[in-house]
Amino acid sequence: MYVCNCNGIRERQVRAAIEAGAARPADVFRAHGCKVQCARCVCEMREMIDQSREALRFAAE
Ligand code: FES
Repeated sequence: MYVCNCNGIRERQVRAAIEAGAARPADVFRAHGCKVQCARCVCEMREMIDQSREALRFAAE
């Protein structure tokens, strides 16, 4: 499933960027060599980043 239709970034690619250290949507775009265009995907990327942080916090407890 695509998260970013403008740049053709799939969900698994966003997750890979987050696992590699992306802390903001801009980092996800940078990891894939592109830039934000319409920004419709930014909220979903932020949610994925937040969910990843929560999962890490939960795992650390
Ligand atoms: S859907 Fe990602 S920049 Fe447009």
